[in-house]
Amino acid sequence: MAERGAEPEVHPVRRRALRAVRHLFSPLLPDDYLELINPLWTTKELRGRVEKIEWQGSQAVTVSIMPGFNWPGHKPGQYIRLGVLINGRFHWRAYSLTSDPEPEDGLISLSPKVVESGTVSPYLVHRITPGTIVRLGEIEGVFTLPDPLPEKMLFISAGSGITPIISMLRSLDHRQEVNDVVIVHSAHKADEVMFGDVLKDLDDRYPGFRLHLRITEHDSLFTVDQLDDVCPDWREREAFCSGPGEMTDSFLDHFEENGLSDHIHYERFQPVIGGQGKGGAGGKVHLTHSKVTAECDGDTPILEVGEEAGVKMPYGCRIGVCHTCVGTLLSGQIRDLRSGEVGGSKGDTIRTCVNTAEGDIAIGL
Ligand code: FES
Repeated sequence: MAERGAEPEVHPVRRRALRAVRHLFSPLLPDDYLELINPLWTTKELRGRVEKIEWQGSQAVTVSIMPGFNWPGHKPGQYIRLGVLINGRFHWRAYSLTSDPEPEDGLISLSPKVVESGTVSPYLVHRITPGTIVRLGEIEGVFTLPDPLPEKMLFISAGSGITPIISMLRSLDHRQEVNDVVIVHSAHKADEVMFGDVLKDLDDRYPGFRLHLRITEHDSLFTVDQLDDVCPDWREREAFCSGPGEMTDSFLDHFEENGLSDHIHYERFQPVIGGQGKGGAGGKVHLTHSKVTAECDGDTPILEVGEEAGVKMPYGCRIGVCHTCVGTLLSGQIRDLRSGEVGGSKGDTIRTCVNTAEGDIAIGL
C-alpha cells in the first residue's frame, strides 16, 4: 500500500487561491503543476528532500532532510514515520527525530541503525542519495521533555536508544538549559557509539553536564545496582530511559520499588503484548483480499495469524508504530494486545501487528 504522507496544514487563503484557479489547469489540478516544479510544494502530502547522509558511528547514518512547506515541527523526543520508495514500492518505518526542533539550517534528521536483514535500514544506510524525495508521515510520541523543565535530569540510554535523547539534548543546548544533566550511555563497541562527538562537545562546554560512556565490550552492562555509584542523587532527578526492553523494564521496576515511578519517562522499542494479562475471546480472521480464513486464539496478533495461514502480510516494525501492517476492518471487533482494550468499527484502519480478534472478524487484506 502506497500510504501517503501526512496532510500538510495549508493556510486557508492559499487553499482558496488554488481552488479559485483550478479551472485554468483542467484536467489536472494546480497542485499537480506545483509538484512538477518542486515536489516539496505539493499541498497533498508532507514530503521532504534528502540533503545529506553522514555516518553516525560504524553502523548508523544520520539522514538530513529538508521538509516541505508547512513542516509542523516536533517536540524533542518524538518520532516520525518515513516513507521511502524501494524497488517500486513504498515502505514505511518510524524513526526518532534526532534534530533540534528549531534547526538553524531548517533540516530535520533521523538516524537509522542498519539491520542488514531488513529492507529499509540497509537502503537508508547504504543506498539513499541526496536529492531523494521521501514521504513524511505523522509525528508521534509522548517521550518528550516536560514543560517546565526539571532542574535535574538523568538520561539512560543504550545503542540507538540515544536517538530521541539526542534531540532533547540538542534542544536543551539550543535553549542554554543544560544546567544539571547526567547521561549514562552504553554501546557495544567504541566505534559504534552514535553521537559521540555531540555528547563529548556538551561535556566540554557545560560544567553541569556529566557523561558516562560505557562500552559493554569491556565494561559491564549498566544496571540498576550501579545507579547509586554513578549518580548518587538519582532520586532527586527526572529520569529518561531509552534502550532495549529489558534495560527499560529493570529501571522502571527500580524506580517503582523506590516509590518514584512518576519520575521516570521511557521509550520502548518493543510493545508489551498482553499488557492486561487476560486472554481474549479469539475468533475467525477472514482476510478478504487473500480469500483466507484462519483461527485466532485471542492472544496472537492478526499479523501472525495471517502469516501462519500462508498470507504475505505487509509489516514493518511489528511494534505498532510504523503503520505498514494496516488493513481495513470490515466486520467484527478487535482487541489491542498492549492495553487489552476492545473496540473497532466497520471501516476503521487497524494495525494487525498489535491487535487480535475479539470474535469473528473480516479485514480487507
Ligand atoms: S505498526 Fe509497524 S508493523 Fe504494525
